[in-house]
Amino acid sequence: MDGKSISQAVIARLPRYYRYLGDLKDSGVERISSQDLSRLMKVTASKIRQDFNNFGGFGQQGYGYNVEYLYNEIAKILGLNEKHNLVIIGAGNLGQALANYMNFERRGFIVRGIFDNNPALCGKEIRGIRVQHIDTLEPFIRENSMDIAVLTIPKESAVRTAELLAGCNVKAIWNFAHVDLNVPDNIVVENVHLSDSLMKLSYGIVNK
Ligand code: NAI
Repeated sequence: MDGKSISQAVIARLPRYYRYLGDLKDSGVERISSQDLSRLMKVTASKIRQDFNNFGGFGQQGYGYNVEYLYNEIAKILGLNEKHNLVIIGAGNLGQALANYMNFERRGFIVRGIFDNNPALCGKEIRGIRVQHIDTLEPFIRENSMDIAVLTIPKESAVRTAELLAGCNVKAIWNFAHVDLNVPDNIVVENVHLSDSLMKLSYGIVNK
């Protein structure tokens, strides 16, 4: 499989397949046809087959998909069969909320460190992890080999911090700050803007 040739639209749909298959697996379903998956997910069966064909198809024609196998294969494609160490930078409202969300760890995303530049927050424990001063971020990342840095800091700080991260071998940045980051190509950046989702919702309301 050549990961580069898969469209971003297909990749973006994989987590949803993964969630549905996880629920099916947990309810004891062993096999599912693309038609049944289509009804459940409200995606056409042909779209499902097209998506899965990007990865070799996964299923036997007419016999349906083996749910557990498909679930595990999608996990592998998404890299969820491996653990990812992450640091949260910014221990304010959002940083603390993310640090407190246990489900990320069930998916293999392990919070290893939380950093802030506010001395009043340093030493505070969030789910057993002590907030450390931002000045110790660089040595911490170098010593502990972090995969992902989560940026929950104001945008001005995010730009500077991304530059620092670029020099410390972080593989990816999960960026919540409302700013586009300039980092080298070897660092993957995923921007999350909850307000974009809210604006889409607003569009849905006014165009109903
Ligand atoms: P907050 O003010 O509660 O927390 C920000 C934290 O960052 C503070 O504890 C502050 O001391 C720390 N900080 C500031 N500069 C720093 C630096 N250079 N290094 C380390 N720590 C630093 O703010 P909140 O509500 O948690 O939001 C954080 C950021 O996330 C903001 O930029 C906000 O606009 C953004 N945000 C984005 C959302 C999204 O959907 N993308 C949703 C909510 C907030």
